[in-house]
Amino acid sequence: MALAWTKNLEVGIGLIDTQHKKWFEKADQLFEAGKNGKSKEYIIQMFDFLDEYTKTHFKDEEKYMQSINYPELNAQKQMHEGFIKKLAELKKQYEEAGANITVIISANQFILDWLTKHISTADKKIGEYAKKLK
Ligand SMILES: [Fe+2]
Repeated sequence: MALAWTKNLEVGIGLIDTQHKKWFEKADQLFEAGKNGKSKEYIIQMFDFLDEYTKTHFKDEEKYMQSINYPELNAQKQMHEGFIKKLAELKKQYEEAGANITVIISANQFILDWLTKHISTADKKIGEYAKKLK
């Protein structure tokens, strides 16, 4: 099961869609590393790359929402914060459990579910709102 962005997740805002695609790539790299039995150090690095990219993406997305006075910016910020916390927890779990594929699989399941649900419900609404402004 590769983690990949699909067309139905399109929000309709160029920057956000481009970043979402890359975000899925980072999540997939973590999953692949776990599946292919990469070293613990390598997998931790993949966690860090995903974390870094997530933060960059959230910051850009929030900036965009602010620029259009998006009314649900605060709710989005809270969701974003929750995900970053959860990601840190998953990384910690992995670090403590050692090179454990089960942790990676459940982490990836969570990440995939969260990304898909967040984009298809919350982020799509940003696109709809932006369209109305035009
Ligand atoms: Fe978002």
